[in-house]
Amino acid sequence: MSKTHDTEDALANALQGAQSQTLAVRAGQARTNEDEHSEALFLTSSYVFKDCADAQARFSGDIEGSVYSRYTNPTVRNFELRLAAMEGAEDCIATSSGMGAIMSMCLAHLSAGDHIICSSDVFGSTVVLLNNFFAKFGVEISYVKLTDINGWRDAIQPNTKLFFIETPSNPLNEVGDIRALSALSKEHNILFAVDNCFCTPALQLPLALGADLIIHSATKYIDGQGRCLGGAVVGSAEHIEPVRNVVRAGGPSMSPFNAWVFLKGLETLHLRMKAHSDSALAIAHWLESQEQIEAVFYAGLESHLGHELAKSQQSHFGGVLSFRVKGDQAAAWRFIEATQVISLTANLGDAKSTIVHPATTTHSRLSPEARATAGITDNLIRVAVGLEALDDLLIDLQRGIETL
Ligand SMILES: Cc1ncc(COP(=O)(O)O)c(C=O)c1O
Repeated sequence: MSKTHDTEDALANALQGAQSQTLAVRAGQARTNEDEHSEALFLTSSYVFKDCADAQARFSGDIEGSVYSRYTNPTVRNFELRLAAMEGAEDCIATSSGMGAIMSMCLAHLSAGDHIICSSDVFGSTVVLLNNFFAKFGVEISYVKLTDINGWRDAIQPNTKLFFIETPSNPLNEVGDIRALSALSKEHNILFAVDNCFCTPALQLPLALGADLIIHSATKYIDGQGRCLGGAVVGSAEHIEPVRNVVRAGGPSMSPFNAWVFLKGLETLHLRMKAHSDSALAIAHWLESQEQIEAVFYAGLESHLGHELAKSQQSHFGGVLSFRVKGDQAAAWRFIEATQVISLTANLGDAKSTIVHPATTTHSRLSPEARATAGITDNLIRVAVGLEALDDLLIDLQRGIETL
């Protein structure tokens, strides 16, 4: 038996039941006749046909084969298959960004007159997309606190089609009960989508906990080094097919180059997520012990309200934490500006640690009242802990402490 490109089926069989860490390195591999070891990058927008009959057959779908990279691209497909395998899903469709994934999923599964219930502290652009664009086409939106399960039950209407949450939430690390929301959604025949960007399949498997669809911003931890934008929707073949049709027709497809970067990112995802989580936990404990710090929000801390729930649905607690300094906005800004190693940038999921003042950046578009309700106070700081040595990060954060 050949051990190169003839053995895709043999590999797929051998990977049945393999652990996620193995799937992250091996799943979705499709070698070309060059027998390359690392995945090939098909940086091409179109594909040539053997003859006109072949063109006709490929266009009609009578035979398999790529036509145009907005429809299919082998590198993008490798990425989709690998991520689907890691999430324990039948299928996945890759998109140009995380927002492209949310938009495509909503376009595919919602119609005018439908109603969505969304957790109130989702990513700001998700709120803008729903309120400014889907509302324009007659989709109704209600926002409910992630942790208020009775509030979710009360918000259900006869036209509710979709539950949408992010867990843990940004930046306060609130934890949504995926199992409970799944049970509620199933009772009412509502689709349930979880944005798994903060955890990735290395830490949390929403489908196994009862979700129907998973959203990813691959831009974050899947890349892991702050280079490329990308996203994905993951779920059953039945739920993904309509999303694929939106992406093919509407065009928010993933670039093959980005797919290649993300494929390589997945290979190290488990190691990275554990390292991000270990350092974040140590930093959260350290911050909790500083008298200049008013409160620390990290689900890994026993003091966090979502700690037990997070333990029951995540293997580690992730790399993002936030904290309130004792003082006002000026104090928070002084802290941030005193750090020298940690970058002042709004992205997260990077090997480089990042720090940001949510009230004046990521959450600045919310009204002051909405910010207050969401707990985004002026003295709150978010840190996305990277892969630098823990001691060096603590030395850098101490620079901030000394300004308080
Ligand atoms: C939880 C979450 N979902 C979705 C997105 C959107 O992803 P992208 O920036 O790749 O469009 C982000 C971006 O920060 C995010 O944090």
